[in-house]
Amino acid sequence: MRLTFTIAAAFAAVIACQGSVSPPPETPPNFKALDWISEETDPVARLTVQPATCLIAPEDPAVQRGELLFTSPLLLGGQAAKAGLSCASCHLNGRGNPDFVFSGISGAPGTADITSGLFSKMRADQVFNPVPIPDLAAPEGQRLVSRSADGALEAFLSAQITEEFAGAAPARSVIEDLAAYIRSLDAATCDANAEQAQTWQDEMKRLRVGAAYLDTERVEDASAYRLAMRAALGRLYERYPASKFGGLSQELVSIGRALSQADRLDMLDERLDTLERGLRHGEPQSFYNREHLARSLP
Ligand code: HEC
Repeated sequence: MRLTFTIAAAFAAVIACQGSVSPPPETPPNFKALDWISEETDPVARLTVQPATCLIAPEDPAVQRGELLFTSPLLLGGQAAKAGLSCASCHLNGRGNPDFVFSGISGAPGTADITSGLFSKMRADQVFNPVPIPDLAAPEGQRLVSRSADGALEAFLSAQITEEFAGAAPARSVIEDLAAYIRSLDAATCDANAEQAQTWQDEMKRLRVGAAYLDTERVEDASAYRLAMRAALGRLYERYPASKFGGLSQELVSIGRALSQADRLDMLDERLDTLERGLRHGEPQSFYNREHLARSLP
């Protein structure tokens, strides 16, 4: 039935185009982040705005590295990683996500059952009990996990990655950086209901933070950071499609490949400088441009 309809629709489109000079339609872009939104959510809004950044120490390198890791699907294991979910998919910019819907995991929009067997067999409790995704910047009294008790947050994060999401045991630095980021989240530092734009600069900053880390002596446990950087490149690739940004998108792929192979990366800073110029220059034609995005979504 569906197939018949599709063929009929395609045929009608061909007929409609005959004699006209309109160019062939571009394939509609595909954005991972739209895989887990409710039907009521405006996809354009979901891709262009996010809750405000509420950080006590936004310039602290550990906080910045934690933020980078927070956006990496590959920190989580199992089905979550396969689906492309990161911490930030549920906690947008470290906050909540009222639009989150993931089949088998969510009840009402904005909820998730993180003890579901879909994510990990270890924590599976056989009960479907989705709860609201909390804003990690919420005031002290509303927090589930203490930010001040010695090691409590670190223990929670390790258990969460390995038990809830079936991820590999993370390096110590990964837990420390994630904890630094989460400790720095505090709604008292911002207008808690404010929103801000999603920009290519967000991803560029993550890449710079990762590059600075790879430049230090502590590179032996850097694989989580490299993977997080690759995820950032992947998100840029979605916004600067190869059909329009041939050279730029090739460079995104090429840097990603270098991150997956070399021990030390040659000229990474220089490559990021060039990339940054390309991203800035191409922005009006990219899917960071709201009007362009709205026109292109099906
Ligand atoms: C599928 C959605 C989802 C993903 C992915 C996710 N979380 Fe959560 N998170 C939740 C939900 C739902 C709760 C509330 C659990 C509860 O109330 O029992 C929660 C609770 C928390 C809490 C405790 C709340 C507080 O403020 O004390 C922290 C900290 C946290 N998550 C951090 C993370 C980190 C770090 C990651 C990535 C490693 C992550 N989350 C990934 C949905 C998610």
